[in-house]
Amino acid sequence: MSRKYLDVDPWKIIESTFDKKNVKSSESIFSIGNGYMGQRANFEEDYSGETFQGSYIGGVYYPDKTKVGWWKNGYPEYFAKVLNAPNWIGIHIKINKETLDLNKLTVNSFQRELDMKKGIYTRKFHATLNNGIEILVHIIRFISLKEDSLGAIEYKITSLNIDCNILIEPYIDAGIVNQDSNWEDAFWKNKSLTNTDLFSGIISETNKTKFEVCTYMSNKLLYDEKIINPSSINKSDNKLSHLFKVNIEKGKTIKLIKLGGYIKKKTKPQLNLFEEAKKLTKRFINIDFNELLSLQIRSWKKIWEVSDIKIEGDLKSQQAIRFNIFHLNQTYSGKDPELNIGPKGFTGEKYGGSTYWDTEAYCFPFYMFTKDQSVPRNLLKYRYLQLDKAIENATKLGFEKGAALFPMVTMNGEECHNEWEITFEEIHRNGAIAFAIHNYVRFTNDFKYLKEMGIEVLIAISRFWSQRFSFSNDKNKYVILGVTGPNEYENNINNNWYTNYIARWCLAYTKYQIKNIKNLYPEDFIKILKKINWNENELRLWEDIIQNTYFPYDDEKKIFIQQDGFLDKEFIPVIKLDKSARPINQNWSWDRILRSVYIKQADVLQGFYFFPENFTNEELEKNYKFYEPFTVHESSLSPSVHAVLACRIGLIDDAYKFYLQTSRLDLDDYNMEVEEGLHITSMAGSWISIIEGFCGMQIINDTLSFKNKLPNKWTSLSFKINFKGSILEVNIIENKINFIWKGESKINIISNDKRITL
Ligand code: BGC
Repeated sequence: MSRKYLDVDPWKIIESTFDKKNVKSSESIFSIGNGYMGQRANFEEDYSGETFQGSYIGGVYYPDKTKVGWWKNGYPEYFAKVLNAPNWIGIHIKINKETLDLNKLTVNSFQRELDMKKGIYTRKFHATLNNGIEILVHIIRFISLKEDSLGAIEYKITSLNIDCNILIEPYIDAGIVNQDSNWEDAFWKNKSLTNTDLFSGIISETNKTKFEVCTYMSNKLLYDEKIINPSSINKSDNKLSHLFKVNIEKGKTIKLIKLGGYIKKKTKPQLNLFEEAKKLTKRFINIDFNELLSLQIRSWKKIWEVSDIKIEGDLKSQQAIRFNIFHLNQTYSGKDPELNIGPKGFTGEKYGGSTYWDTEAYCFPFYMFTKDQSVPRNLLKYRYLQLDKAIENATKLGFEKGAALFPMVTMNGEECHNEWEITFEEIHRNGAIAFAIHNYVRFTNDFKYLKEMGIEVLIAISRFWSQRFSFSNDKNKYVILGVTGPNEYENNINNNWYTNYIARWCLAYTKYQIKNIKNLYPEDFIKILKKINWNENELRLWEDIIQNTYFPYDDEKKIFIQQDGFLDKEFIPVIKLDKSARPINQNWSWDRILRSVYIKQADVLQGFYFFPENFTNEELEKNYKFYEPFTVHESSLSPSVHAVLACRIGLIDDAYKFYLQTSRLDLDDYNMEVEEGLHITSMAGSWISIIEGFCGMQIINDTLSFKNKLPNKWTSLSFKINFKGSILEVNIIENKINFIWKGESKINIISNDKRITL
């Protein structure tokens, strides 16, 4: 299934007709943001048709009480809701008394565009109102990449056929609810309002979590080059507006400039939110709108200079990767270690919480390779800042002595996912966090980070694993019982191969880094040990587990077995399933899914993805060919890992199919649910598919290595990597790879198995 109504273009997303059926999907696809705040592409003017209103502020959430059938000890108290924030974009418009509402008039032409190169969203339409007035409307909107709290709109209306009277009433509205909440609680409480000709602001506070936010606006209306003052300023409980009345002549245009956004009170309790917002609007309201646009374009230019990937020969692939890169940059800027990358980013409210294992397992490489080192460091710092909560979380579940279980889903470090099979059992997430640390350290050699933060995280994670393994007398090995692996279509299983593998790896890696830190920073090392009450005796058990971990393996098939008992299943490949059964998560009972062989997403194969150096290509091929035919890829995270692995064993056509599936998932709406929001974290998988898949980039013994094989259609590919503060440019033309190294000192890399110096 799919829904394809957007034009294909290298830099733009274009919708060129108005179809009410697509409004909600486009609201997701054309979303804009800057890492601090973001919003769906809702119309500014009234719209009485079906719409999904959404505007979000990074890190602002509501703890919606957990609603479950039967309470189990250890359940988190709440489910964190990404909160729909007050609306700052609204503009109510009446033309000769008729409300401008695209649902109720005749749309003669319509076009919206997201210019990804510039970070600017525009909409144009030509419409005939029921009163016969023909208008042309042109809107430009952006959320500033540079100024976290600044959004801007230019709204132009031209009357085409007669002189008319226009009421234009920009407003901010804090009477906002979420589409979805467990108990119909009110999420926001308004604390104070201020409204003058020049500035309007509402300070609202979230109930329970007490986030204080000022939603503001400042407006300037121009007609015939002259500034028009509002004829009234209006105030109701939740809403503030400026009302402008203008008689316009046929053929002439009025132009409203509206600035708005949010200022969130964070660490500075003395911050006067109204004053801050006023200062901001004063700085920007008198700057020409084109100048504001230039600032925005310049900021995006800087982003694209490093993160762009150029593909020639295949426009669809080109558009898709830029769309993915664009949204990843809109979702996370890396400036604030308390923010993270939610699966829906700022494009919808599904998925409580903002941080999943998606961040470390899927998103981390994109930010690490295309950004300044401070960005991946902040992603790691995020977990360090939440380490105490992770220890608390593990303690609640019965672990001790500083063992940490990081949450499956979180906003502030507390677990907020409320299904036992995920919360208690999907513990492999701890492994992905340790893996990201390893990924970062081998790429940057930032041992200072390890000393300051990383080693404590690693030890706490390893303490968890050492207690979570138990010894089986029957097997004479250490086992892990009662888990859910990455494949969530199996619960409460024993010895999930991937979980056992990454758990054991964590113990070995932590041991290795303890030794390094001890050598590099002996004095600090003693302090750390004191702080966390660790001594070398703990290593004894770790070592025993490392030497004696149980891994389910089939000698005949020569594959790792996903979990104990997996081979008892009925093995009917996915292609033999009736189409009406797909996706199985919408068509089968949960019971049937659990009993079936079908795999939601890479599970054993996730281990092969993380640790290519530990397996031979034959092993990979055997396991890939065994598991992929039973994989339904019903998590958006699945196709990308399969794309990378398919490349490693030379199945480029399969990899290309997976690449399109992951990179155009939202643009072509393969799951027919893009209206709920975009799949932000899986967008990082598109980047991985290209860079780690078709270009075969890996870090082998601290050295960057490439092994390229492009899809047939791609005549060339180029991209850049930020390597230790300098840029490595990679160009592949007709499968010949070339490098341009902009750093001052030489580096060694491996290019298609040959070691070269740049
Ligand atoms: C996947 C998880 C993922 C979550 C959020 C689920 O469908 O199975 O692996 O963490 O979505 O993206």
